[in-house]
Amino acid sequence: MDDIASYVQQNRERFLEELFELLKIPSVSADPAYAQDVLNTAEKVKNFLEQAGLDSVSVEETPGYPIVYGEKILGSNYPTVLVYGHYDVQPPDPLELWESDPFEPVIRQTAEHPDGTIVARGASDDKGQMFMHVKALEYLIKNNRLPANVKLMIEGEEEVGSPSLEWFVKNNHEKLANDIILISDTALISKDTPSITAGLRGLSYVEVTVQGPSHDLHSGLYGGAVANPANILAQMIARLHDEKNRVAIPGFYEKVVELSTDERALINGIPFDEEAYKKMLGVEALWGEEGYTVLERASVRPTLDVNGIWGGYTGEGAKTIIPSKASAKISMRLVPGQNPEEITRLFTEYFKKLSPPGVKTEVKAFHGGYPYMMALDHPGYKAAERALNKTFGKKVYPFYTGGSIPIVPLFEKELGAKSVLMGFGLDTDRIHSPNENFGVWNFLKGIETIPYFYAYFAESFR
Ligand code: BES
Ligand code: MN
Ligand code: MN
Repeated sequence: MDDIASYVQQNRERFLEELFELLKIPSVSADPAYAQDVLNTAEKVKNFLEQAGLDSVSVEETPGYPIVYGEKILGSNYPTVLVYGHYDVQPPDPLELWESDPFEPVIRQTAEHPDGTIVARGASDDKGQMFMHVKALEYLIKNNRLPANVKLMIEGEEEVGSPSLEWFVKNNHEKLANDIILISDTALISKDTPSITAGLRGLSYVEVTVQGPSHDLHSGLYGGAVANPANILAQMIARLHDEKNRVAIPGFYEKVVELSTDERALINGIPFDEEAYKKMLGVEALWGEEGYTVLERASVRPTLDVNGIWGGYTGEGAKTIIPSKASAKISMRLVPGQNPEEITRLFTEYFKKLSPPGVKTEVKAFHGGYPYMMALDHPGYKAAERALNKTFGKKVYPFYTGGSIPIVPLFEKELGAKSVLMGFGLDTDRIHSPNENFGVWNFLKGIETIPYFYAYFAESFR
């Protein structure tokens, strides 16, 4: 296995060129205007899987965007690794804040990446990270070093809640049967802190609309006479947190599993520089639930955030109206013990109670997901720990992320398999944001590390 580093160096330019081909196709799953591009990306992924030497490569039809599947089966006496990734991306807007075209990848030098970072939508989330697996498998297959059966499943709807993948998994238990799932769709603590994501938060997502008068009203003629939906919405949102910055929805924390002293020590024991964190985010002070550290608040405590808010006149100059309605999109990040359907129900009941006479409040629920935790003594975690230790030559830290990958807990429920979250991104990758990027170093390090995961996992299986 030790020639992987030189394989990566020798093929570095080709790997980057191939990844650029994927990044050039705008596979935005949320916007129907890009439908043909999403389908073209699936075809391109299929070609790359074939080129890597995988068998039975197919673009599997679903009720939504297709799932690209490929496998290499050695035999029933080998363990099976299922690799999951996604080829769809978030919308690129606001376009004016990109320094280069989101779908014309370029390599740029930055403070975090003096040796270059790939700038494009999807570079880190998740095309670049998914492609590390394709290239690692190319190496393993071409050099006859694959020590396990491998199944690859790359979907095109992760950024919209994986509706078709859920259907696909439920209908393909046998085809997807495995001993461990391997995913690179998260970040490292930092470039010099090798780490594995040991937990994900769950998600409950709603859109609320406060409806007042049947049409916009002159704010002079009617101001003072009717409830203003924008004012009311702001008041209702303000009542979603209390003075300790805790979520004020009755029952919200009721089932939350409290952390042990040891768990808190583990979470707070990772290298973390609060000043650098504030600087990276462009804020002078942090904010959050009283009684918890920032690391805890951003990973293992549940939260509620407005993601967008609109209503009334937002154009140039002053237009004097009372809007007929106002809306907001709200996400709640959930932790072990919390159930997304129940949290959505508790939110809806409370929010409707906050609604005063004179307006009507509607709550629309979107697709959510459960939280996820991985035990640190699991053979899959151990194999990833050894692999990262091998290629970084350092102690490997477990950590908990605030993000969500709803399909991961679903895999556990449907397939009875754990997922190892071995991501190579960085917090500075600006995923879902303008100027998303993925370090060239991170991309190559991922390709170098993945083959060791297979070797160590297969070894522990014997
Ligand atoms: N890859 C991300 C999740 C992520 C990124 C987790 C970095 C940890 C570190 C994934 O593509 C994502 O964006 N998930 C969404 C949820 C989904 C239902 C839209 C999220 O977390 O908002
Ligand atoms: Mn992702
Ligand atoms: Mn994402």
